Amino acid sequence: YLAYKFFFRAGKDLKKYGEWAVVTGATDGIGKAYAFELAAQGLKVLLVARSEEKLADTAKELKSARSGATVDVLQVDFSKFDASARAMVKSKLAPLDIGILINNVGMSYPFTKYFHELKDSEVADIMQVNMDSMTWMTRIVLGEIDEDLKPKSGMLLRKRGAIINTSSGGARTTSPLLAEYSAAKAYVEKFSQGLAAELAPKGIDVQAQTPLFVTTKMAKIRKASMTVPTPEDYVKCAARQIGYDPVISPWPPACTDTLSSLSSFSRPDRQRERETATERETERKSRLSRPKERQRESERQRERADVS
Ligand SMILES: NC(=O)c1ccc[n+]([C@@H]2O[C@H](COP(=O)([O-])OP(=O)(O)OC[C@H]3O[C@@H](n4cnc5c(N)ncnc54)[C@H](OP(=O)(O)O)[C@@H]3O)[C@@H](O)[C@H]2O)c1
Repeated sequence: YLAYKFFFRAGKDLKKYGEWAVVTGATDGIGKAYAFELAAQGLKVLLVARSEEKLADTAKELKSARSGATVDVLQVDFSKFDASARAMVKSKLAPLDIGILINNVGMSYPFTKYFHELKDSEVADIMQVNMDSMTWMTRIVLGEIDEDLKPKSGMLLRKRGAIINTSSGGARTTSPLLAEYSAAKAYVEKFSQGLAAELAPKGIDVQAQTPLFVTTKMAKIRKASMTVPTPEDYVKCAARQIGYDPVISPWPPACTDTLSSLSSFSRPDRQRERETATERETERKSRLSRPKERQRESERQRERADVS
């Protein structure tokens, strides 16, 4: 059954969900790959992210890769997704026939840390960007109801749609040094499961997708392998799973449930030591890439050589 699901089961016709796809965090990594894939499948795409410049560049790149594609952009910083930002998004989305929402935006720790080492601003951002963004964006595309609880707009009124929420393999394992991130992703997964059962009878498919490692800026992995796909390869598989299971790890060789690669995290103290050494080395290299620092470093080395 697993082989059928991952390799032979045909993807759904995604245009049947509606005209537009909304992708959050669409200027990089998985979100950007999703935007290109959905445009390739004939959907109009609304790119949502925080940098206007990157949004304009991504839209331009997408239009030149897919002539005839309809692409629009919306600047939102999900770490500040308050009532007025949500109202702005709601009014932008209201006239659109939104078939698919890819709740992709997310943020992890800058590097693994004990929870008490995070700054207050990081603690708040991790909750807002991973959980609040998905929860509120979902509510916006579902639409509004009247006093009799009857749908007035959105996917509920149209009785069709797909909402894809991006969790993480980290949500499935005990993840010391990424405790808040993994807990936020577990929320994404549980929320999606409950909502999938609520909304299936209303014609709306909800699914949590749980990547493990993908070669993106966030993962800080450059080289793709059997278990670590590029965003484009990952999304090709992920898009084929839309409309099926409420929770899925789309990249077959990295089925999260069977993973042992996170076992190093069972000793957070050792993991932290390794990370600290790597951070120090990265910091030293970036310092050395600055000419003055390079000069100072070679002076220091000369002094050390003279002393010895
Ligand atoms: N990559 C992995 O290995 C991996 C594994 C498991 C789960 N995931 C999940 O997959 C999703 C995508 O991750 P990724 O690796 O593709 O990330 P990424 O390459 O870092 O891209 C993140 C995207 O989100 C945007 N973004 C970040 N913070 C934002 C904010 N506050 N408001 C609006 N937009 C914001 C970024 O815009 P800027 O370019 O302006 O920052 C970028 O477009 C996340 O939910 C992540 O948790 C990833």
